[in-house]
Amino acid sequence: MKKRLNFALIGAGRIGKVHAETIAFRIPETALTAVCDIDAGAADAIARRCGIPRAAAGTAEIFADPAIDAVMICSSTNTHANLIIEAAQAGKHIFCEKPIDHSLEKIDRALEAVHKAGVKLQIGFNRRFDPNFVRVRRSIATGEIGTPHLLHIVSRDPGPPPLAYIKVSGGMFLDMTIHDFDMARFLVGSEVTEVYAAAGVRVNPDIGKAGDVDTAVIVLRFANGVIGTIDNCRQAPYGYDQRVEVLGSLGAIATENCYPNRAVISTAESVRRDLPLNFFMERYAESFANELQAFVEAIVHDRQTPVTGLDGRIPVVMALAARKSHEEGRPVMLDEIAAEEARLETITP
Ligand SMILES: NC(=O)c1ccc[n+]([C@@H]2O[C@H](COP(=O)([O-])OP(=O)(O)OC[C@H]3O[C@@H](n4cnc5c(N)ncnc54)[C@H](O)[C@@H]3O)[C@@H](O)[C@H]2O)c1
Repeated sequence: MKKRLNFALIGAGRIGKVHAETIAFRIPETALTAVCDIDAGAADAIARRCGIPRAAAGTAEIFADPAIDAVMICSSTNTHANLIIEAAQAGKHIFCEKPIDHSLEKIDRALEAVHKAGVKLQIGFNRRFDPNFVRVRRSIATGEIGTPHLLHIVSRDPGPPPLAYIKVSGGMFLDMTIHDFDMARFLVGSEVTEVYAAAGVRVNPDIGKAGDVDTAVIVLRFANGVIGTIDNCRQAPYGYDQRVEVLGSLGAIATENCYPNRAVISTAESVRRDLPLNFFMERYAESFANELQAFVEAIVHDRQTPVTGLDGRIPVVMALAARKSHEEGRPVMLDEIAAEEARLETITP
């Protein structure tokens, strides 16, 4: 076993920068030896900031380099599936941001390539590594709150992304709720069988004109009988709102938002505190570091990654079911999505 794992970063945007900093500064068993972005300026900026020795001209250069053990795919979603295939064929371990793709057929091709190559693949569902949600999972897994009955996930962004982003995002269910779909099955430890999405445009009519929704409640039915809700909005004026509550036969467990400080300001008018941490980079900083540490350990100890390709695929099925439910105004069984994909595959050349 080599002493250090050499990583390369593909995609030097918002999330690429977060992961580059983790690999470069927080995980001593790793070195970040190359970065690549179609925007050379973005790659150069991260290379300078994180002391990365090489900004590669293209991904081919990264895949051809035998000294690189693993790649982090942090480019736009539409590039993930092909990059996974190329990385797997080059024998690189792969950390890939969510979602793998919006098409199950493309996801399956990517997962097949990973399987054939025998490399590790971990999908970037970082919230599983947030210490609050880890504690919720533990209370369910150990029976601390008894048999779980109800799950509530509140997941509201501080503000909507730019319209240009929304137009290529695949829609709110595939872009934003996908994290909550993963969280739901991770926390409950059972698969969702049916979803019903009541969704609308409440924040910005332009989001509706772009064909998307910005506000939704999604009801989930799990195979083990648990009933869940996900409450999403693209805008919460008080900041990033990320909470979970589970009710079980012996009690409940709930998590609060994370704050930059614990100060409470009391005056004659009110008792108040500062707003929660504003967005995912701050709120989930620890989880981003923890997920990469877990990926590194999976490689070093040759064990399964904690968020597999299948874990990446299932929330996409849930998101497609939610979209169908919204479009058709009815609950949708997840099985219907698999059946529809199979039908589409037979009629698509
Ligand atoms: N886990 C999370 O919480 C989280 C948060 C944000 C984004 N994401 C995911 O990460 C991905 C990137 O999102 P972002 O917000 O960082 O986007 P971004 O637009 O800030 O960055 C994407 C970068 O990829 C580059 N790029 C595009 N195609 C490329 C290619 N073929 N080769 C190399 N570079 C390429 C772009 O030039 C850009 O610099 C998306 O799939 C998104 O869903 C996950």
